[in-house]
Amino acid sequence: MKAKLALLGLAASLSFSAVADTEEMMQAAGKEQFNKCTACHSLDESKNAFGPSLIGVFGREAASLPRFAYSDALSKSGITWTEDNLRKWIAGNDQFVPGTRMRHVEITDKAEQDYLIAYLKTL
Ligand code: HEC
Repeated sequence: MKAKLALLGLAASLSFSAVADTEEMMQAAGKEQFNKCTACHSLDESKNAFGPSLIGVFGREAASLPRFAYSDALSKSGITWTEDNLRKWIAGNDQFVPGTRMRHVEITDKAEQDYLIAYLKTL
């Protein structure tokens, strides 16, 4: 009985670390994807580059950084950066928010989207 419990515990901790590894691997892959974004997006919270800083973007209201001159289109979009909306944005930002000033981005591969979103969540 004791041995059985110990085994169950071992199995539980193994599957837990497998999940954590996957998440870490996704974030690492997403960090590479993010190279497509760094030309315009700084990881320094206090700095807006050609695009707004993406630090803390997950869960943030669109166009909510006070010191960045957003397009009217994004300012009036009423979007919050949930996983779903980030996915639509990186799949085709100018279809999702017509009139945005961000250059067209089109990442249609679901796995690539997953990686990038996993990484964006860490910022
Ligand atoms: C050529 C420059 C450029 C590139 C490359 C770029 N962006 Fe942007 N991004 C912008 C600009 C400019 C805005 C502001 C858009 C507006 O006001 O309509 C923006 C806005 C955003 C926003 C909304 C932020 C907010 O505060 O509401 C997100 C999210 C975003 N970009 C993600 C990305 C991701 C992810 C990538 C890489 C796949 C990327 N961007 C690549 C220029 C760029």
